[in-house]
Amino acid sequence: TPRVFSGIQPSGGLTLGNYLGAMKRFVDMQEAGSFETVYCMVDLHAITVWQDPATLTRNTRELCAGFLAAGIDPAKSILINQSQVPEHAQLAWVFNCVARMGWMQRMTQFKDKAGKNAQNASLGLFAYPSLMAADILIYHATHVPVGEDQKQHLELTRDIATKFNHDYGVDFFPITEPVIEGAATRVMSLRDGTKKMSKSDPSDMSRINMTDDADAIAKKIRKAKTDPEPLPDSLDGLADRPEARNLVNIYAALDDSTAEAVMTQFAGQPFGTFKPALADLAVAKLSPISAEMSRLMADPAEIDRILSAGAHRAREITAPILRKTFDIVGMVGPV
Ligand code: TYM
Repeated sequence: TPRVFSGIQPSGGLTLGNYLGAMKRFVDMQEAGSFETVYCMVDLHAITVWQDPATLTRNTRELCAGFLAAGIDPAKSILINQSQVPEHAQLAWVFNCVARMGWMQRMTQFKDKAGKNAQNASLGLFAYPSLMAADILIYHATHVPVGEDQKQHLELTRDIATKFNHDYGVDFFPITEPVIEGAATRVMSLRDGTKKMSKSDPSDMSRINMTDDADAIAKKIRKAKTDPEPLPDSLDGLADRPEARNLVNIYAALDDSTAEAVMTQFAGQPFGTFKPALADLAVAKLSPISAEMSRLMADPAEIDRILSAGAHRAREITAPILRKTFDIVGMVGPV
């Protein structure tokens, strides 16, 4: 069976973008039954920028609660925290020696995150995509569901697999397919339709957090930036209206529908009608998840048990693949 891998950073709360662009799709692929699914909290990636230790611990457990509340079932998927499966970091070292400096320098996420003073960025932030390639390839995963912002990293994953196979004259690592599908592959900020919705945006009004209560969700949608025109009667009419387009996409993704179907339903309606409908839908879909998250968070020991069990299952896959990689490279072993 083809294997799916994907990850989310425990570097802050989950946003609606993470949920619609990633987590909800993870659940779909788990339920499709045609894949073996591995989902990961990537704490080693999170520390490429400073994380307060106690906050990192809490965010990792909260993210795990988010996965479970959204419908990831540890009996159907392998659910892990990255640092508990040491083969990720071990394979990443090998990939650091396969990947080229120039490849990393081209990464737009590095340029964005490092900002003007790239000399002061951590070495880990620079090598970030190499660890990400290791996350995927240590499982020989073939399908990776992500939002659109991860596309460039996945192309680099293919480059690393190709170069490794070529350098060592093997056909060992698969060439992975990104799975960037659905109505919400790029959820935009509620304040600016040209910017991605992000947990790091300074304005909390720009995003919906998975832990927001019903009042906060309703208020953020009511205040979301829009233009004064009613909704047009077809998708073409949204081409130059990024904020309107974003709200339609969010509605479609929450409702497991398509932007076309939402346009048919709300054609000609003003935002005064559409926004309350969207708020009701968002509250109906998100509040059971946030309620379940707080219930799970009350028992952190249970979360830790789930992650520990997941790590044991994962290592049955990752340990042999790492050993085989070391054999290919010519390293003496096993211990
Ligand atoms: P991260 O933690 O930034 O985001 C997790 C997932 O959420 C998606 N996403 C969005 N989708 C749509 N609209 C948005 N506004 C939005 N914001 C975030 C992201 O595309 C992602 O799928 N590098 C990754 C984590 C990672 C990973 C991996 C992913 C590490 N190793 C291996 C896949 C495979 C990241 O920073 O995601």
